[in-house]
Amino acid sequence: MAAMEPNLVTYALYGLAALVLVWLLAKVKRRLELSMAKHPSLTGHARMSRRIASLIPFYEYDESRFFNSDDAPHEVAERRRAGFARLARLYEERFPKTRLATAKVQGSISDVQFTDVYRVPFQYSRIVREKLRAGTFVESSSGVTLTDLDGNRFYDLTGSYGVNVFGYDFYKECMERGLARTRDLGPVLGSYHPVVAYNVERLKQISGLDEVSFHMSGTEAVMQAVRLARYHTRRTHLVRFSGAYHGWWGDVQPGIGNPQPARETYTLSDMSERALHVLRTRRNIACVLVNPSQAMHPNASPSSDSALVDSGRGSHFDKAAYAEWLKRLRAVCTERGIVLIFDDVFVGFRLAPGGSQEYFGVKADMVTYGKTLAGGWPVGAVCGRADLMKRFRDDRPADICFARGTFNSHPGVMGAMAEFLERIETPEIRELYVDLDSVWDGRTEHLNRRLAEAGVPVRIANMSSIWTVLYTKPSRYNWMLQYYLRAEGLALSWIGTGRLIFSLNYTQADFDAVADRFVAAAKAMEADGWWWSPPGASNKTIRRRILREIVAHRLRG
Ligand SMILES: Cc1ncc(COP(=O)(O)O)c(C=O)c1O
Repeated sequence: MAAMEPNLVTYALYGLAALVLVWLLAKVKRRLELSMAKHPSLTGHARMSRRIASLIPFYEYDESRFFNSDDAPHEVAERRRAGFARLARLYEERFPKTRLATAKVQGSISDVQFTDVYRVPFQYSRIVREKLRAGTFVESSSGVTLTDLDGNRFYDLTGSYGVNVFGYDFYKECMERGLARTRDLGPVLGSYHPVVAYNVERLKQISGLDEVSFHMSGTEAVMQAVRLARYHTRRTHLVRFSGAYHGWWGDVQPGIGNPQPARETYTLSDMSERALHVLRTRRNIACVLVNPSQAMHPNASPSSDSALVDSGRGSHFDKAAYAEWLKRLRAVCTERGIVLIFDDVFVGFRLAPGGSQEYFGVKADMVTYGKTLAGGWPVGAVCGRADLMKRFRDDRPADICFARGTFNSHPGVMGAMAEFLERIETPEIRELYVDLDSVWDGRTEHLNRRLAEAGVPVRIANMSSIWTVLYTKPSRYNWMLQYYLRAEGLALSWIGTGRLIFSLNYTQADFDAVADRFVAAAKAMEADGWWWSPPGASNKTIRRRILREIVAHRLRG
């Protein structure tokens, strides 16, 4: 009997070891599945992208290298230099007051400092800043135009970050009338102005969901939706798709830009079977966030000219394929009790009156809104199923999900929101949605034809009224186009040609004027030699070369 005892212990140990091994293998398998569900690009790997970003040293081109960083021949570099000098003179003459006003605040507004530096790739940034500063100030808006401090009128392609869906005059009226409606109450907070009841009813109708909460920004709305999803599912993790922007809260911005890692965020590949597998098999996922504007460029960040180091920017909007993906995502979320959140802060009201749910034909459990919703004032809103919006548990009175905000439901904001929600029902606004996509697809095609006829290596890709500019020939200088566009009287946001946003009140005549100017700008840039490229150049050779420069500067210390 004594001889049997060690055997039993041994068997037990073997058994235990086998169990541990199986558990470990299962863990490794799940970890591998998670890795495989990430997009292979750096955008798909938040931590790695932050680490790599921190290794890139600053270096810049001097006045001579600036014009031939692609080894352009002397004649081409001189043409570029002359074109640049002409633009610099034009900027100096045309924007003196606007430039002076900007220079005065330059060192005092952190936002201005940041956006000014990050308009073009960093190697060129200082010289561009010195010579082509256009200024950040504008005096007024009207129709589809903005006027700067020098009286220059620009066609507005900024869309005010997406707020401007129906034209600035529409918003001025909403703001004024909204304020007039709530003037008697003034800034009283905590209690509600009666217009709030109307807003809630309308948002319930529009979203098809049961409850509403109001916040002050899109970022806050997203924070609240995720917090509620975590509270009700009792799970920790949120899923976002690679490249998708959901505001600047840490958990939804795990990569470059956030000094802290987001420990409870999975960044998965968009439109990917493997991502669905992770959703099906992990038990810690509370919610999935979808930013439907990613349909334009799944798995890539919204493009900015500061990252336009070559012509690799892409876009391939396929509405049917994205709708199909959302349907599959919906099914998996339902099956696994994961909260599906559509972040309509940007595209809500822009794509369709019922936002992306209507546009793609898929229902979400929660929808966040913002930007345009309050008729021009700052806002965020969450609409959701009643069971997900509740902030307390009947059976656990101390277990609450807290959310407040001093300015939530501010009377002025709510007044303008009521105006906005009333006006979008009027025949004039309803009319704008009729054939919306075919109008904007047609305009895009028309401009692309003109660009092709002009022989310039520029094309437009669009998702309804949202555009990105693509470049068809390998070049290191595409970011210069934003300065030629400005010279032609087109106003772009600080991310340059990465995203142009039209308001839906652009008439065909307005659009034709924009198209003329766009073609003129591209032709001028072509004539100045910026799109010369060496034989055999490709985006890959450009990127390799930049990598070599970076490594050389890094090694130099
Ligand atoms: C999809 C999306 N979500 C959230 C946000 C953040 O909104 P806000 O800038 O109002 O905080 C944005 C802003 O661009 C957005 O586009």
